[in-house]
Amino acid sequence: MRVKLQVLLVYLKALSSVVALGANIICNKIPGLAPRQRALCQSRPDAIIVIGEGAQQGINECQYQFRYGRWNCSALGERTVFGQELRVGSREAAFTYSITAAGVAHSVTAACSQGNLSQCGCDREKQGYHDQEEGWKWGGCSANIKYGVEFSRRFVDAREIKKNARRLMNLHNNEAGRKILEEHMKLECKCHGVSGSCTTKTCWITLPKFREIGYILKERYSEAVQVEPVRASRLRQPSFLRLKEARGYQKPTDTDLVYLERSPNYCEEDMATGSTGTRGRLCNYTSPHTDGCNLMCCGRGHNTHQYTRVWQCNCKFQWCCFVKCNTCSEKSEVFTCK
Ligand SMILES: *[C@@H]1O[C@H](CO)[C@@H](O)[C@H](O)[C@H]1NC(C)=O
Ligand SMILES: *[C@@H]1O[C@H](CO)[C@@H](O)[C@H](O)[C@H]1NC(C)=O
Ligand SMILES: *[C@@H]1O[C@H](CO)[C@@H](O)[C@H](O)[C@H]1NC(C)=O
Repeated sequence: MRVKLQVLLVYLKALSSVVALGANIICNKIPGLAPRQRALCQSRPDAIIVIGEGAQQGINECQYQFRYGRWNCSALGERTVFGQELRVGSREAAFTYSITAAGVAHSVTAACSQGNLSQCGCDREKQGYHDQEEGWKWGGCSANIKYGVEFSRRFVDAREIKKNARRLMNLHNNEAGRKILEEHMKLECKCHGVSGSCTTKTCWITLPKFREIGYILKERYSEAVQVEPVRASRLRQPSFLRLKEARGYQKPTDTDLVYLERSPNYCEEDMATGSTGTRGRLCNYTSPHTDGCNLMCCGRGHNTHQYTRVWQCNCKFQWCCFVKCNTCSEKSEVFTCK
């Protein structure tokens, strides 16, 4: 069954706000959970909405980052956390997995800081310590990124059940997304002292904006490396991944995004490869980039739609007391792929 995550989220929120429903009821409404995910849902029902929001945050960011591309994060994005597993091993799948795993870790960490989850809060580990050299002390609410990352690991990774190469790829990309988030945590400080002089400072760790993570992962996507599975013995399941183009057994680094198969060109619809095709997509007549009609429509040509844009203009304040405007209009065109 395929259910749009956004629809599912609205539904779950409505459900949980009406009455304090049993965890069983809520968790059973979510299609496609792996057994360990269902168990986690049942033991931590308060976290399931935060997880869903985190996955949605990842998908939204994916759609933003790829808004000008032929692949716009459609077919792959919806199914990475809940629901059926993807059977695609492309570079785009790599991006999708990394950004949803990071999205879940980000959301859970933010929810901990805001006191929205019962079993976590701010990271108090360093509380009260002084950094003698730099002259500041830890204070405030440090984001508990370790908790968020561990939670994402337990929930998101639990859907990789089959012991195959795709599993190794997905787990690697999930971990890469979380690692990149962890590496970009920020130190924020506040000065204390007479009239803003910085005689003492309190500092804490905060989450980066998720947009920043989106840009970094997009860069990782363009530098993603092709890998192939290695079996320890002939009959065994694949046990690790190595770079395909390298001699010997060079492994990808922790923060590389990895893929197994070359991507399709995303021109035509093909559910097997996760391509929705570009028919009907908006394109830009003058752009030389991938959003230009030439590239976006893969040479099939485009349709032109004319419309008239109408708005209020030249507004003037009249004594007394109203505003008088003219109506302006402009003929405009949009283009869509054939
Ligand atoms: C925490 O809960 C409040 C109130 O329900 C909500 O507005 C906020 O978005 C939540 N924050 C996170 C990070 O989930
Ligand atoms: C992505 O492209 C598909 C197919 O052309 C389209 O139906 C969908 O609305 C697009 N999604 C977004 C988020 O732009
Ligand atoms: C189309 O592309 C051109 C050139 O890249 C750009 O200047 C323009 O703003 C784009 N138009 C729209 C509607 O995005």
